[in-house]
Amino acid sequence: MNVDEYEYYNNLANWSFDDINYISENYTNWIYEDEIVKHSNKKTKILDLGTAAGEKVLKYFPDCLEILGTDFSKQMINEANKNLEKSGKKNIKFRVMNNLSMNTPDNYFDLVTARHTVIDPKQIHKTLKPGGYLIIRGVDKLDCWELKRMFKRGQGFQDKKPISFIDYEAIIDAGFKDVELIPLHVVEYYKSKKDLLALLLKAPILDNWSEESNRQSKKVIIEEDIFDKYVNKNITSKGIKLIRRYYGITANKK
Ligand SMILES: C[S@@+](CC[C@H](N)C(=O)[O-])C[C@H]1O[C@@H](n2cnc3c(N)ncnc32)[C@H](O)[C@@H]1O
Repeated sequence: MNVDEYEYYNNLANWSFDDINYISENYTNWIYEDEIVKHSNKKTKILDLGTAAGEKVLKYFPDCLEILGTDFSKQMINEANKNLEKSGKKNIKFRVMNNLSMNTPDNYFDLVTARHTVIDPKQIHKTLKPGGYLIIRGVDKLDCWELKRMFKRGQGFQDKKPISFIDYEAIIDAGFKDVELIPLHVVEYYKSKKDLLALLLKAPILDNWSEESNRQSKKVIIEEDIFDKYVNKNITSKGIKLIRRYYGITANKK
């Protein structure tokens, strides 16, 4: 486990962006939540890795037999359990687990999901039933690339290989079949400077976070002059433009 990364998420204790005012336009039609619905039914058992405070699981996941949401941050899981109680849902459980040392049963889940978190495809392969699916969504190296170039740093900035390729190859090497890597191109527009700054303070976009080595530096200060330069270059009638690059992967344990 990377201690800095653990502290980073523990200090946040939720992964909600509800307070940030922005709109988002998809240039591709692969939607993570829709893929989960497509690959599940009433009998499905789902494991959601890096679930944070369960925001996505509680809001978007289908009504199925069982959902286990895990996260290595105790604070996130405490919040997830509070959110679960409020929801009244009975098919969901949350517990602490590190994605890199999983202790879930072998051949148990029909679907493993992981959105914006680290994964170990071999361990996921082991916990999936034969015929089960893995669905992930990640933030790629070219995410917010103009911004990262202006600041000369950021998540994956120094990495030679994009994280999408690293995951794709590791998933194939773990023995998965029908592995599909889909680049996701999204454009976001932030209502005000305050909204964009709130994103940059919460998400590790501008931190020197190497995905090749899974190492993160301390949270960095955002220099106002560079930030203002970016904002001035990217003001549009819809808001301050930010180009996002994500990726989706689906894979099957045959
Ligand atoms: C960017 S948030 C994404 C949360 C959620 N999946 C979503 O999409 O809204 C990343 C989450 O992964 C968790 N995480 C990061 N590394 C982890 C690891 N090695 N094991 C378990 N959880 C991890 C963090 O604590 C955090 O809650």
